[in-house]
Amino acid sequence: MAGFAAASYLRGIPFVQVPTTLLSQVDSSVGGKTGVDLPQGKNLVGAFWQPSFVLIDPDTLKTLPPHFFADGMGEVIKYGCIKSRALFDLLAHTEDLEPIMDDVIYRCVDIKRNVVEHDEFDTGERALLNFGHTFGHALEKLNHYEGLSHGAAVGIGMVMMARLGEKAGWTAAGTADTIATILKKYHLPVHSDFPLSHIVDATASDKKSIGSSINLVLLEEIGQSFVQKVPRSELAPLAEGCNE
Ligand code: GLY
Repeated sequence: MAGFAAASYLRGIPFVQVPTTLLSQVDSSVGGKTGVDLPQGKNLVGAFWQPSFVLIDPDTLKTLPPHFFADGMGEVIKYGCIKSRALFDLLAHTEDLEPIMDDVIYRCVDIKRNVVEHDEFDTGERALLNFGHTFGHALEKLNHYEGLSHGAAVGIGMVMMARLGEKAGWTAAGTADTIATILKKYHLPVHSDFPLSHIVDATASDKKSIGSSINLVLLEEIGQSFVQKVPRSELAPLAEGCNE
């Protein structure tokens, strides 16, 4: 919100980001997306406005209740899914994240920096950062943005999208279960009780919808992601069974 104010005031003044949650450290403070939510959906008003610098102090994470950490882990796991099998495996196998947290945050920010440098204004590759967000945003909306955190919703959305991809033959078999296992390890949910039809309907205001099509972010396998444009009318049949 402060970034959006900085983008708008006098048509833009410099600003810095000092993120103090894991979610903002690995995602929202980097890349220049600023904005606010509307009742109709998340981030519907905003501007691209790069911070002059981002100062991340991982020690701030120790001051937060555990659920904020789990929330951020949803996005951390997402980076592994879309771009780094090595990061995913590190998260899957480590017994204690704390001593390696600086490295984990660095790897996430480095992936995001690399994607944003190629596609600052979100016309191509940057869409990969939205893996899990199509159904994730829908679940947040169905929960009226209460009770289910963004990272938790993205986690469920990643499992659903991996199942959709597996069913369609785009994603390696077993990927959804592998993602569900790591989400559980980091105390994140892997399933929502909302009927699938409600979840699909709630994707209608998704910014990834373009006319009668929607861009789905899918995995070939852990660490390899791609965008697949599908007719909106095919989303419900494609998604059938992906929330079970
Ligand atoms: N949080 C997704 C992006 O910055 O593009």
